[in-house]
Amino acid sequence: MATTPLEIYDFAPGVPSIYEEVMAGLRKTPKEISALYSYDERGAHLFEDICRQPEYYLGRTEIAILEEHIDELAAMPGGDIALIEYGSGSSRKTRVLLDRLPQVAAYVPIDISKEMLVQSAAELAGRYRGLSVLPVCADYDQAFELPPAVSQYSRRLFFYPGSTIGNRMPDDAGAFLRRMRTLCGSEGALLIGVDLRKDPALTLPAYDDAAGISPSFNLNALSCLNRELGADFDLARFQHHFCYNEREGRVEISIVSREKQVVHLQGTPVWFDEGEKIWRAYAYKYSVTDFQRIAGDAGWRSERAWTDDRQLFSVQYFTAA
Ligand SMILES: C[S@@+](CC[C@H](N)C(=O)[O-])C[C@H]1O[C@@H](n2cnc3c(N)ncnc32)[C@H](O)[C@@H]1O
Repeated sequence: MATTPLEIYDFAPGVPSIYEEVMAGLRKTPKEISALYSYDERGAHLFEDICRQPEYYLGRTEIAILEEHIDELAAMPGGDIALIEYGSGSSRKTRVLLDRLPQVAAYVPIDISKEMLVQSAAELAGRYRGLSVLPVCADYDQAFELPPAVSQYSRRLFFYPGSTIGNRMPDDAGAFLRRMRTLCGSEGALLIGVDLRKDPALTLPAYDDAAGISPSFNLNALSCLNRELGADFDLARFQHHFCYNEREGRVEISIVSREKQVVHLQGTPVWFDEGEKIWRAYAYKYSVTDFQRIAGDAGWRSERAWTDDRQLFSVQYFTAA
């Protein structure tokens, strides 16, 4: 554990605890609750637990691909690199890069979950002496700035693992990649994990682990609303639901009301029918070429696309076009 005090660039994001925002989602048809409500401190730890489940092939396959091909990345053009990770969580995968990419001089983890950010940044600063660790606590979908020190490094390498890009609709994914492209400058690069489109029988178990962590993670959003907005969701009366939409190539994750019921948010009633779905998240799956096209339209040039033998997952490397 590091003893070095770290400066946190804190944009104090929190979860959007604005009553009107939540109510606007619950007034929609179908109702929706933002994925951000799963990521309070407990949610961030639950996600780490999901990654350890045997059904969750995404994380371990991604790490295996990174480990297998890291030497190719290490051979990329020199200069000192600022490695910038969006949604860094425990920074577990980042260690593969930090262990083997001597060009990385600074690491900028960005996460909305402050406790995990502070803990993992301190651990990395202790482990990699000489690495400048510049943690940013921010919602990367809202306005925030990179620490000024980032400008002293000659290249920026954005790291966006976990197929988190798949949680966005394809148009939004393109817009997000374009914002990254703008931030990275003409010498920058992007290393991104993208789950592959395949037989749903291979994909779906990842969303339904036998230990029941995925349901806890999904329903954690209701606990979060109970705490943040004084709501009275009874979690036992809701359940985790997911299905594969073959036409769209995406897993659809929702919460279903087990019965007809009324819930109150700061005294305002919200009615649910039996079987009614609250939309939570999509997880889009892409072919390598489909994703290269989206990234290409956003200003990124494909350099490499690595996959595992079973074609479950891809790690793709782009440079600024
Ligand atoms: C799915 S986890 C991925 C963690 C890690 N990058 C990995 O691949 O294992 C998503 C992480 O992103 C963070 N996160 C989600 N949405 C965010 C946002 N809009 N802004 C900042 N962090 C966010 C969560 O707190 C969580 O730590």
